[in-house]
Amino acid sequence: MSQFSLDALQARLAAVATLDAADLEREEVAVLGRKQGELTRLLRDLASRPLDEKRTVGAALNALKQQFDAAFAARRAVLEAERPDAGGGVDLTMPARRDWTGTQHPVSVVIADVVAIFRELGFAVALGPDIENEERNFTALNFPPDHPALDMHDTLYLEQRGAPGDGERLLLRTHTSPVQIRVMRAGPPPHRVVIPGFSYRKDPFDASHAPAFTQIEGLAVDEGITFADLKATLTHFARRFLGGDVAVRFRPSYFPFTEPSAEMDVSCVLCGGSGCSACKGTGWMEILGCGMVHEQVLRNCGIDPEHYTGFAFGMGPHRMAMVRYGIPDLRLLFGGDMRFLAQFGRFAG
Ligand code: DAH
Repeated sequence: MSQFSLDALQARLAAVATLDAADLEREEVAVLGRKQGELTRLLRDLASRPLDEKRTVGAALNALKQQFDAAFAARRAVLEAERPDAGGGVDLTMPARRDWTGTQHPVSVVIADVVAIFRELGFAVALGPDIENEERNFTALNFPPDHPALDMHDTLYLEQRGAPGDGERLLLRTHTSPVQIRVMRAGPPPHRVVIPGFSYRKDPFDASHAPAFTQIEGLAVDEGITFADLKATLTHFARRFLGGDVAVRFRPSYFPFTEPSAEMDVSCVLCGGSGCSACKGTGWMEILGCGMVHEQVLRNCGIDPEHYTGFAFGMGPHRMAMVRYGIPDLRLLFGGDMRFLAQFGRFAG
């Protein structure tokens, strides 16, 4: 028994995994065939060898035979599974399972779109914490001390136990406007920011209210900013967001931190302005509050109102998602039901 025959067989064993069906059958006969098989012949020849050789070589040959058996069986199983008429081992009659990729939440889609539009106009994104103090949430924004929003019944205050703090009560911010204060105090003008984030109020959870909801705040402060800049910027935004043919109107309003203040309406996206149940027959939908930053607010942030002016705005992405997609009940946007959400969401990526 030569080492050469054993080495040759080892090489053939390694090659079994690459054989096609016809070669596999041929190789099986060539190695293990009862009459002509190479390995069979070597085992047969062993009978005439001395005893010690029978033991050592016999053990090696038997091990090799087992390895060939296993290799042929494994290769046959692989070829069998790959046969086209076997469906590659797949049951072709089984109902297909669609890849489940998920979608962005419609409110996330709105926020991403709004932010993208303002970024094109040179606005940066700023963020602030959900827990604020009374000073930034109300006082610095020029809320009078008797404003109802300061009332415990309207606002979610945090109970403070023994914290040193700055003597200000802490609360869940009732709007994203306090981040205006943070931005203006962080550095000198010019400022151009949009601020997405959650806001909280002690509101019931019903078809049009939620105690936690999203807002996007906007702020632009620079030399020579006028109400015309506000109107042009927000009109451009509405057309980019809702489509070029949308009409806008500004109605006088009141916010403590802006003067003058306005609400911006857009022509109803569902009826195009002719009046339907979504716009309560008016043809208009309110989408944001805005105004020129109040002089006192600028002063509260160390900015000279003789030198700088600015405009601000605030909108609600949850509400805007309802307007854009015609969603009748706010609670659907908090439900997490994929059958509902996937209709409006955008595929990520
Ligand atoms: N903070 C207001 C609110 O929550 C929204 C708002 C209105 C923000 C006018 C503004 C603004 O920046 O100019 O109702």
